[in-house]
Amino acid sequence: MKAIVVYESLWGNTAAIARAIAEGIGSEARVLSTDEASGTAVSEADLIVAGAPVIAFSLPSDKVRTGIGANPGNAPEAPDLSHPSMRSWLDSLPARQGRSASFETRIWWSPGGATKSISRGLEAAGYKTIAKARRFIVTGKFGPLRDGELEQARLWGAELAKAMESQPSG
Ligand SMILES: Cc1cc2nc3c(=O)[nH]c(=O)nc-3n(C[C@H](O)[C@H](O)[C@H](O)COP(=O)(O)O)c2cc1C
Repeated sequence: MKAIVVYESLWGNTAAIARAIAEGIGSEARVLSTDEASGTAVSEADLIVAGAPVIAFSLPSDKVRTGIGANPGNAPEAPDLSHPSMRSWLDSLPARQGRSASFETRIWWSPGGATKSISRGLEAAGYKTIAKARRFIVTGKFGPLRDGELEQARLWGAELAKAMESQPSG
């Protein structure tokens, strides 16, 4: 089973969760930013796990990302906008039969979310959802991750690998 964990991450929280999920899935999983996730890395994947931060109650739009780049507020460091948005990555994802799961990082009390849009995009490309979407929590607007979230991500990765054993093909 080949798996990729694809992420959008402006301040590194989602990237850290993506790495932990891949560790949990096992050595057959690769962690890829949205610009690395192309070509055979994607076409050979049986499982795509995709994640992004919740920004302005939603999966970040390109407009919102541009706004953050122009005015990052009191961010501890400049946002990493070098990789395409998850939205645009999903829009260009080639259709294929496979399996998928989605996750988001976010503050715990916010309305809205990112995983509905991610799951919809993955399903539209032919990647059937194998597990309930997951939320991972940060304690402040820019992070850090809440204690224990990386461990939860590893455990979830292991659950996804098990789910793939019981329903491996699309
Ligand atoms: C400008 C801005 C807007 C945000 N809006 C929301 C939001 O609406 N809901 C939420 O739960 N979290 C929100 N957050 C928190 C981010 O989702 C959280 O910090 C996330 O982990 C960032 O992921 P990253 O480090 O991978 O970029 C916001 C953060 C920033 C900087």
